[in-house]
Amino acid sequence: MLSLNVATYSSPSGYQLTELAKPELIDPKDVIIKVHAASINPIDVKKADGILKLAIKDSFPYKIGYDCAGIVTEIGSDVTRFKVGDEVYTRLPEVSRGSCSEFVKCAEYYIGLKPPSLSFEDAASIPLAAMTALQALKKYKGDLAGKTVFVPAGLSGTGLFACQLAKHVFHAGKVITTVSTSKIPKVKELLGEGTVDEIIDYTKSDPREKIESGSVDFLFDTVGSSMEFLSLMKPQSGCIMSVATMPSGTQLQESSLMDLPHKPTIPIAFRTALNMMDRVRKLRARRYGVEYSYMFLQSSGQDLDELRTYVEDGRLRTVVGTIVELSDIEAVQNACQVVYSGKGGLGKMVIKVANV
Ligand SMILES: NC(=O)c1ccc[n+]([C@@H]2O[C@H](COP(=O)([O-])OP(=O)(O)OC[C@H]3O[C@@H](n4cnc5c(N)ncnc54)[C@H](OP(=O)(O)O)[C@@H]3O)[C@@H](O)[C@H]2O)c1
Repeated sequence: MLSLNVATYSSPSGYQLTELAKPELIDPKDVIIKVHAASINPIDVKKADGILKLAIKDSFPYKIGYDCAGIVTEIGSDVTRFKVGDEVYTRLPEVSRGSCSEFVKCAEYYIGLKPPSLSFEDAASIPLAAMTALQALKKYKGDLAGKTVFVPAGLSGTGLFACQLAKHVFHAGKVITTVSTSKIPKVKELLGEGTVDEIIDYTKSDPREKIESGSVDFLFDTVGSSMEFLSLMKPQSGCIMSVATMPSGTQLQESSLMDLPHKPTIPIAFRTALNMMDRVRKLRARRYGVEYSYMFLQSSGQDLDELRTYVEDGRLRTVVGTIVELSDIEAVQNACQVVYSGKGGLGKMVIKVANV
């Protein structure tokens, strides 16, 4: 089968499309999916470039991609939730990585039925980013109803889902976001009227001068600015959940990225350094009476089922800014380069893998 991969750690210019072995059913809980569309997240391009090479030894060719949507073609004997022909979407676990391929295999635990109203391209854009946003918002201790939620980068992958979930599912009183100039009018157009209450052009003004100090109950940090925004947080009850600073070494060790059969271990020096940096961030936050934590997404079919209900009842929509064909490797490289740069993208980038 055709699969997007790298032969050695590389930026997108080194991505290649080659024939690799099609996955085979071995575990009775496994499902094989014919992929129709996959989406790219920052972790795909960062990991393919070796960002975690100090922590984990990857094998090559390194298959790219965690998110996809497609049709079930084979099921193991213990699979109970899916049948051949089901339209599904998933964020693959590390052991199954390689969603930008014609076929993938993973345990049924990680799969959800695709929202029926969505195309495969739209469905593939959801799993990793939307589950991350949902899990982050659920970590707020207490009720977010009526509270002020700040989500920087409201038209990024994680940001677009977080703004909508905060408002329409968690009933936040005020949702604040930041985007660059050309995206200002797009926030209402793409996320819907009444989703975001305050939009700040972060290229023209510092959010710290626009948002009242001590007014934010919950910050979902998608850009790595947790420490810069401490003064905005409500003292004693403010909570920051970050996915864009750095994990502690212990969190990284226990994360889904390290969940592989050979149980890789992070070198002690690296783990200790990450733990120390995380402790410093926590202490800095505590001086403001704020609780700071980094979090890792945990992939789960149950969360995908929950997100499907929000899509189908109209509370959650996706934004796909770019779609490229897997067969057009130059277009794939260029689109992945935009994700790699961390600037200029709109919503999610999707790769069309098969023609339905
Ligand atoms: N820990 C986890 O489990 C987890 C899960 C998901 C994501 N993440 C991480 O979270 C981060 C965000 O992921 P994502 O998928 O949302 O990224 P993304 O979709 O690639 O978002 C990039 C967008 O963010 C905007 N942006 C960049 N810097 C900004 C800033 N300072 N203020 C406001 N907007 C800014 C850019 O828009 P402009 O072009 O308008 O500047 C860019 O288009 C990444 O670092 C990713 O690795 C972690």
